[in-house]
Amino acid sequence: MAYAIVYNSKGGNTKMVAKVLQQALTGAGVEATLTEVTPDTVQAAAQAARDAEAVLAGFWCDKGSCTPEMADFLAGLAGTRVFLFGTAGFGGEPAYFARILESVRAKLPEAADYLGGAMCQGKMGPAVRQRYEAMLAEKPDDPRIQSMIANFDAASTHPNAVDLEAITTAAKQSLNLQ
Ligand SMILES: Cc1cc2nc3c(=O)[nH]c(=O)nc-3n(C[C@H](O)[C@H](O)[C@H](O)COP(=O)(O)O)c2cc1C
Repeated sequence: MAYAIVYNSKGGNTKMVAKVLQQALTGAGVEATLTEVTPDTVQAAAQAARDAEAVLAGFWCDKGSCTPEMADFLAGLAGTRVFLFGTAGFGGEPAYFARILESVRAKLPEAADYLGGAMCQGKMGPAVRQRYEAMLAEKPDDPRIQSMIANFDAASTHPNAVDLEAITTAAKQSLNLQ
């Protein structure tokens, strides 16, 4: 039976992680399908999940959690083994990722079998930096805005090879593939 990698990605970061996971699982000798969740494909994604040995569900962090369409998909995973992976713009603090994972995990039904999760930082679009720059122009000495710009720049190289390796390792461990 195949594993289903089902992901939701607005800008491509989570899609990148999903593709690397697919390569890693294939490399470990197991078949893995790749399905994108959009508001129009929740049902198709649910079908892919029903046919799978386990589901690797990938989300991008939207206001501290996942998008409504991803929440809809996760809500249908009763009786399924689920590994969660995600990307978020703010990084550097494991507790932050843990909070987001808990919030997304809460979208799963009680009858889902949660195997674990992993996250990494993901780059944000240029409009975000422009917004921060406009804020900084108003308040040039504001340390909060300065740190938001520093975080934006730090995020611009993620997901990187270390992130991808860490998420792949976590997924394989959770799925008992190594
Ligand atoms: C509308 C919107 C809301 C976001 N909310 C958050 C957030 O609450 N926390 C965070 O760390 N990053 C947030 N981000 C940043 C994204 O989660 C991050 O860039 C992610 O890697 C995007 O993944 P994707 O390229 O797969 O869409 C937000 C981005 C957008 C566009």
